[in-house]
Formats: sequence, C-alpha cells, structure tokens
Amino acid sequence: MTPRTPVLLLGRCLALLLLTGAASGEDILIRGGTVVNADRQFQADVLIRDGLILRVGPGLKADRPGTRTLNAAGKLVMPGGIDPHTHLAMPFMGQVTCDDFYTGHAAALAGGTTMHIDFALPVAHDLLAGWEEWQRKAQDAVMDYGFHMAVTSWSAKVAADMAELTKKGVNSFKFFMAYKGALMVNDEQLLQGLRRCKELGAIAQVHAENGDAVAEGQQRVFDAGITGPEGHALSRPAALEGEATARAIRLAEFVGAPLYVVHVMSRDAMEEIGRARQRGLRVVGETVASALSRDESAMWDPDFDRAAQFVMSPPIRSKEHQAALQAAVAGGVLQLVGTDHAVFNSTQKRVGRHDFRIIPNGVNGLEERLHVVWQELVASGRVTPSDFVRLTSTAAAQIFNIYPRKGVVAEGSDADVIVFDPAMEHTISAASHHSAMDTNVYEGYRVQGKVVTTISRGRLVWHEGRFNITRGSGRFVPTPTHGPLFAGLERRAEPEQALLDAARYGGVPVRRAGDQPGGSDARDEL
Ligand code: URP
Ligand code: ZN
Ligand code: ZN
Repeated sequence: MTPRTPVLLLGRCLALLLLTGAASGEDILIRGGTVVNADRQFQADVLIRDGLILRVGPGLKADRPGTRTLNAAGKLVMPGGIDPHTHLAMPFMGQVTCDDFYTGHAAALAGGTTMHIDFALPVAHDLLAGWEEWQRKAQDAVMDYGFHMAVTSWSAKVAADMAELTKKGVNSFKFFMAYKGALMVNDEQLLQGLRRCKELGAIAQVHAENGDAVAEGQQRVFDAGITGPEGHALSRPAALEGEATARAIRLAEFVGAPLYVVHVMSRDAMEEIGRARQRGLRVVGETVASALSRDESAMWDPDFDRAAQFVMSPPIRSKEHQAALQAAVAGGVLQLVGTDHAVFNSTQKRVGRHDFRIIPNGVNGLEERLHVVWQELVASGRVTPSDFVRLTSTAAAQIFNIYPRKGVVAEGSDADVIVFDPAMEHTISAASHHSAMDTNVYEGYRVQGKVVTTISRGRLVWHEGRFNITRGSGRFVPTPTHGPLFAGLERRAEPEQALLDAARYGGVPVRRAGDQPGGSDARDEL
C-alpha cells in the first residue's frame, strides 16, 4: 500500500467543497421517501425550514418559492447519525490525531453522521483548561458537536470543575482504567469520580482495561521478542477488558451511579454488561464499528503500515468476539455503536515501527460507521432499519439527553436528516474517503447501500457526491445533566445507605460488653 500525504488529501477534500445550491435559509422538501425512525417506518414527505423539520406527512407542498425539492422515491429518510465517541485533533501518545474538526466533520457528513460527541482531555489535569482548548479546536466545525470530558486525576478542584462543566453543557465524564502513567486513574480516583458524577447527574464513562496488567503484558510480550503490531493484540487480552468492566460495574453499583462502558471490544466485557443489566443495574454498553466488522488477524499483516493502522485499545479481537458483539447489539445487550475515530497516519504510526507499545492507538470510522453497521447488521438481516436508526442515532440522543432535538425525523426536531439509497453499492477506500487519513481499516469493504444526501441543521451539506460546507458553521450542542439514566434513580435503595441500615439484625453500632457508654471504641483499649 502506498500511503498518500495528508497535504494531498486535504487538497482533494477542499477541491470537493463546491457550492451545490440549497444554501442555509432555503426550504428543502424531501418527497416520496420512507421515513425511518427508531419506533417505526412510514411513507412521508419531509419539509425543512430554518434549520428545523417543519412538517412530516404525506403529500406535502413546497409553499415557498425557491424550495429545493429532493426525490427520495425508493430511498430511506432517516435521522443523521450521532457518533458518541470520537477524538478529533487530540494529542495522544506523542502525536495529534490527523482529523480535525474540519476534515473529520467533512468525512462524517459524507457518511451520514451529523453530530458527534468528542472527548476533550484536560490540559495538565486541568479540566477547564481542556475545555478552553477544545473550544479552540472546534472553531473549524462544520456540523454539530458535543463534548465529554476526561478526568485523569482527582482533587477538590477537579470536583469543582466538573460542576462548572456541567453548567457549560457537558453531561459525561470519561475515566481511563488503562494507559498507565498517562491518562489512567486508580480505583480510589474512579470511586470519587463515580460519586461526583452521580451527584451532578452526569454520566460516568469508563475505558475498561486493567492498566497495570496491560503494562505487564506489554513488557512480557516485548521481552519475548515480539515488537510488531501483533504484540499489541497479544499483550492486552480480553480477560483484562472483562476484569476492568466487571470492576467498574461493581464500583458504580457500590456508589449507585449509572455507568457507560465505551468501546466494548470483547465477549468478556459484553457479558459483564449483560449480567449487570439482568441484575437491574443502569449500565450502558457502547461498541464500535471496527469491533463489529474487523478482526485482529490484520495486526499480523507483514506490511507494517497495514498492520499498524488496526492498532487501537482495547484491541480489535478475533472473529469469535466479533460475532458475539454483533449478537449483543442485535439482542439489546449493547445499546449503541460509535467509532472511537482516532486517526494517526502512516508516518505517525511508524514511530512504533520497532516497538508496538508506542504505536499511537486509534482507527478510523467516523465516515464509515453508518455504512458498516448497515452492511453487518441490516443487509445481513440481523436487525431492522428502525434498529439501525436506534443504534446509530436515537440511543445516543436519548442517553446524552438531547432527544428529540436530535435522533428522530419529527416536526420541531433539528433538521439533521439523511437520504439513504439501499440499492446503491459502493466500496470503501482511502482513495475516495474524505478523512485526512492516508489509510482506511475498511479498505476494499463492499457495502450494499449508500448515503446520497446529508442535511445538517437544514443545510444541504452533502448531495450526490459533493459538499457544500462552511468552516465554522458547526455549533456546540449542550448536553443537559439528569438525563433518562437518572430518572427515578433516587427511588433505588442507596448502596451506601444500605451499609448503614440500622434495621439489619437489630441496629448499629452494636453495643458490646466493655463498650464505654459515651460510645468510645473498644478498639482504643486494645
Ligand atoms: O485506541 C484508542 N481507543 N484510541 C483513542 C483513545 C481511547 O482510548 O479512546
Ligand atoms: Zn478509550
Ligand atoms: Zn476513544
């Protein structure tokens, strides 16, 4: 594979930014399509005005001159995708992800995703400084976006800053249980964070891998002389993901907080989530497009560039894990599919040419997600088109508390709408994608179905292979706290209160012979 330079790719991307009409302010009427929402699908036209969906129904008329009419006969009209897990322009492992809020957004729109929630990182553990930094990055945005914030240390200031961020519209915080010596938090810090999230009505998210064991595994594999990308797969087995997932679930249960497990890559982690949900715990599982469609064998590719592009954490695993994750998504054990789009080009990945431990972690998917999920789950008959909408859009809108503004084609909702042609076949390739990446983990992947039109906040931004986007036109979408995961939570028996439950076996503290009447502890006398 001959990697192309990011400069060439960016040039190609800019060359595609041709005006196609339908500027902001113009009405758009989508006629004759099948509207697919998470709850049902039905024949209807969709009229869009001033960035919102004005009408959904049969036989709608263009009642304003200059209305842009799109013929959607034989096509599906669905809410734009919401990717709950991306890393644009993120400094990580000594590199910065090469898709920023411009190229990443262009790629997303071409693939039918109209909103994403990006992970902002603290700057030197300072959350508010991280917020400022990500505000600057997002000035290039061309579609809507939200933010999660990572918490990488614990202090009174971190707790206060979390509250400050919720006021700014951040309702989710990610805790890394891996990346020892960098982003990782220990159990004590995680517990503090879980408790704080619960207090704030914010969603606690975990990257669940046992970071201590990963560090040992990496050393063991490296010392055995395995230095290539396959060492990445070998050094962080599924058991370590399962262990951390189970631990996070139990700690969240101890605190009584809802939990969101990001990028579930293994059967081991998925089964922990399934068991927790069966026990009635509020645990959400997100998997990613690569886990549903790629497998670890690519890391054994003799071509380093090809193998290294599959290096992400937790690792992409065997086909058996892939099948189990597909079944879990289809069966409702896992609730949504993101991407973890974190792209490092071949030059960046080559820093780890002789040591897999320093290959920057991350794969692409922001542009490909909808097509991959459609191909793996709908084209194969595993889920319905409505399930597809739920997995790629509605569930994220609901969990992050922006539904029905996003995630549904309904009157009054933001006009983030895609037109999907289920009959149009295409093949994914780095030669034709719109990301700044020079490779693509889906190279050569054939898809039955294609997003032919993307409308973002009422603007026709992608149509028949052409962009109409304006740098800086994307907006931050605040995500309010106390979303659906918190509804009625206060009625659940508080685990910590249960520890102090005075009624259990007759009351506490138990008075014992030798105790001082004033309650002084017998242990003091030992
Ligand atoms: O490999 C990955 N996942 N890179 C991005 C950082 C993260 O852990 O989400
Ligand atoms: Zn992660
Ligand atoms: Zn991630």
